[in-house]
Amino acid sequence: MAERSAPVGVMDSGVGGLSVLAEIQRLLPGESLLYVADCGHVPYGEKSAEYIRERCRHIAEFFHAQGAKAMVLACNTATVAAVADLRERYPDWPLVGMEPAVKPAAAATRSGVVGVLATTGTLQSAKFAALLDRFANDVQVVTQPCPGLVERIETGDLGSAQLRQLLLGYVQPLLDAGCDTLILGCTHYPFLRPLLAEMVPADVAIIDTGAAVARQLHRLLAARDLLADGPAQAARFWSSADPQALSDILPLLWHESDRVQRFPL
Ligand code: DGL
Repeated sequence: MAERSAPVGVMDSGVGGLSVLAEIQRLLPGESLLYVADCGHVPYGEKSAEYIRERCRHIAEFFHAQGAKAMVLACNTATVAAVADLRERYPDWPLVGMEPAVKPAAAATRSGVVGVLATTGTLQSAKFAALLDRFANDVQVVTQPCPGLVERIETGDLGSAQLRQLLLGYVQPLLDAGCDTLILGCTHYPFLRPLLAEMVPADVAIIDTGAAVARQLHRLLAARDLLADGPAQAARFWSSADPQALSDILPLLWHESDRVQRFPL
């Protein structure tokens, strides 16, 4: 039986999940958080589902060994590839995955055209097709894979001329198609909000699901009487690539500059 004071494990292929970690910390400041950035294997977006499942299994085992009371897949691509497998392996463990915000976007759009920026892996998945079937029957959805964006964000680039050009090349076709609502379907992309805000008209809504994931974690923990009731320990970080490299860009993407350890698997 897990303890309320046990930590919550949060993972992503790299730094993208920090955008979700921030929402979790905002909503649940009492929770102690562990974060694994699988930077040695980023990007997940162009890799096979089997490869990603294997990585997620290692990370789940690690969180288990750390005594985590719950796990958050703070990665859309990892969720489509691995969440079912992990649920089967750990049926009693609260597990939160994430998916592009198609449902709220379909409800919000006035033009009836919604754009989705996400990885190739997410957009090509059966899970995403099912999401569209379920929630997007009355709207037109224009999808845009964005190879290259994650790699730039991983280096801490949130605004270079090359990044700007790459992003504009992905966003402009969505605007040309009449989208008035853009879904950020990859957890790295919320870090590009300031840049996006310069590119899209003010009446285009930009939606991501970090806050919804935090609310879902809250629900799952509350239902099991597992919400932390003491002060949180400082978040702890691991990277499967050079820990120093993550340490160096943490201050840009996270409010503290914590020590990063080497992820052992
Ligand atoms: N941050 C991830 C997502 O939400 C994946 C990025 C990648 O590694 O390609 O999809």
